[in-house]
Amino acid sequence: MMGNNHDHPVRAVLEAREIVRGVNPTGDPAAICLPLAHPPVHSYVFVPVASPSRVYGWLALVEKEDAAVFSDEDTQLASTLGALAGMAYENARLVVRLQEQTRELREHEEQTDFAMSAARTGISHRDLGSSWVELSPSMAHLFGLPADVRRISQDELYKRVHPDDGPVVRAAVEKAIEARSEFALELRLQAASDGLRWFQFRGRVVTNADGQPSRVVGVITDITERRSLELQLRQSQKMEALGQLAGGVAHDFNNLLTAIMGYARFALDTAANEAQRHDLEEIVKAASRAASLTKQLLAFSRRHMVETVALDLNLLIVDMVTMLRRMIGADIELATTLASGLSHVRADPSQLEQVVMNLVINARDACGPGGKIRLVTEAVDLDGSVASLTPVWGSGAYVTVSVIDNGTGMSEATKSRLFEPFFTTKPRGQGTGLGLATVYGIVVQSGGAIQVESEFGRGSRFTVYLPREQETTPSAGRAVEAHASATGQTVLLVEDEQAVRELVRIILERAGHRVIEAATPEEALAQFDTLESVDLLLTDVVMPAISGFDLFHKLVERMPSLRVLFISGYTDYALFEPTIADKGAAFLEKPFSAEALIGKVREVLRAGQAD
Ligand SMILES: Nc1ncnc2c1ncn2[C@@H]1O[C@H](COP(=O)(O)OP(=O)(O)OP(=O)(O)O)[C@@H](O)[C@H]1O
Ligand SMILES: [Mg+2]
Repeated sequence: MMGNNHDHPVRAVLEAREIVRGVNPTGDPAAICLPLAHPPVHSYVFVPVASPSRVYGWLALVEKEDAAVFSDEDTQLASTLGALAGMAYENARLVVRLQEQTRELREHEEQTDFAMSAARTGISHRDLGSSWVELSPSMAHLFGLPADVRRISQDELYKRVHPDDGPVVRAAVEKAIEARSEFALELRLQAASDGLRWFQFRGRVVTNADGQPSRVVGVITDITERRSLELQLRQSQKMEALGQLAGGVAHDFNNLLTAIMGYARFALDTAANEAQRHDLEEIVKAASRAASLTKQLLAFSRRHMVETVALDLNLLIVDMVTMLRRMIGADIELATTLASGLSHVRADPSQLEQVVMNLVINARDACGPGGKIRLVTEAVDLDGSVASLTPVWGSGAYVTVSVIDNGTGMSEATKSRLFEPFFTTKPRGQGTGLGLATVYGIVVQSGGAIQVESEFGRGSRFTVYLPREQETTPSAGRAVEAHASATGQTVLLVEDEQAVRELVRIILERAGHRVIEAATPEEALAQFDTLESVDLLLTDVVMPAISGFDLFHKLVERMPSLRVLFISGYTDYALFEPTIADKGAAFLEKPFSAEALIGKVREVLRAGQAD
């Protein structure tokens, strides 16, 4: 549009895209809204510098030579120049915007790729018409390929799949292509640094406009950690179930063995001849062997009585070294590397010795002559990421002891069953398969965990983790001397197993005590008030309705001076209430000998008199 707008020609150009041609007789620039400093202007054409979408400015032709006004051709020329300049501006603007967008896109891509790498996830595209697979940068990273590799041949990709999984993956993908459907499976792949890892592979078949399958888009995620946690969890659950089973059997066995050993010993006292004596001794011997087996089962099922103290793991090991060297023989070397300034751990010293010994014996058995065994202690802070730890574990501060050998190592199959009671790979008669079951039970009861690292032909490393103790002074065990004089007191005996109850009564009566029997805690409670005086409550711990602990709590309220001795072969660690220990409670583990029972009863009664 061409106008002759003299009021405000510049505005007309910029706002209305007008072409303004005119004359300015005075030559005064201000009259046509030009700056005052502008040289005089008598004739002019103003055109917009614009693209179809935007006005960038204006172009002016002024002071036409030899003429008072600009011609139509001049105006046409100015207008073309303005349009050309507008296009140039528009192009420049678009280029800048494109650069910005490209940069944003790249940043976005980098972020996405970082996120995918962190999540150990990659994306693949397979064009069904070719044998190539396009990879996201994170995928190249997962496979340890150079960062700029964006595609890999299908054969090359399948070479990285575990031979057992390859056919399964191929079949699943082919089936999905045929059905134009989605698929999801788990497979083992050769990953960048750490060899074979587990991946989840989810994919979708993309069809073209004709509905024909054209591409397969896949997402691959590294799930190695998740799988190993699942495995650990299953392992822990299995051990828990086995522990309950073993504990239950051992509990009943303990009662039976207590009776068998006790009565056999009575019979020994009155044996008529040497032949009888011999037979009875054999019974006692066999029962003792059975008792030691039961004891190992109890240790495994964590129903063993334990007396824990704060102790220095290094000292414990130093004390054992001579004995261990003798045990493994001169052909095998034993070295120790003990961390200095190690915190104490809370455990039962003899149980912990058992743990170290069982591990060292296994190491010895795995080594031939020239074998090397190392014992290493360390302070370790766990951040929850330790693999192959049983039971599954969180984080915290621990002291560890490792037994490392350069022996045969183990297969995966052996590793997965290692802690099961009676699992052994040793020839008949050489191993009972209780060594590691015992270790497991003790370690778990001490609030710890155990880690096994081993490969067939490459030796083994067993690491026991024990929680670090805060206070560092080991508490000395309190030894109370048994005194022969403390007889004649009244004992209230509560035991639901009749054979054990009778045996205990006979032993105590022979030792000069008065015994009042109760078959249940209820019966004991009912009898209690009718009794003149009771010096000692001697009770089983696990009974159907009321536990031995509860019974003691109830009775001690009525008679604060009451002493107590718990007899049990089946005591869940959780039942050890500190309140019970504070009241001077004592424990005796089944099966026990007559001497042990009498000794313990006297010890408790003596301690009562001393109070
Ligand atoms: N350091 C090791 N190196 C190789 N294999 C081991 C090692 N420790 C344990 N094993 C394997 O674990 C199995 C179970 O060990 P465990 O100590 O429970 O029983 P055992 O040694 O066979 O018998 P037991 O300890 O009752 O005499 C062993 O038979 C062996 O196959
Ligand atoms: Mg063993």
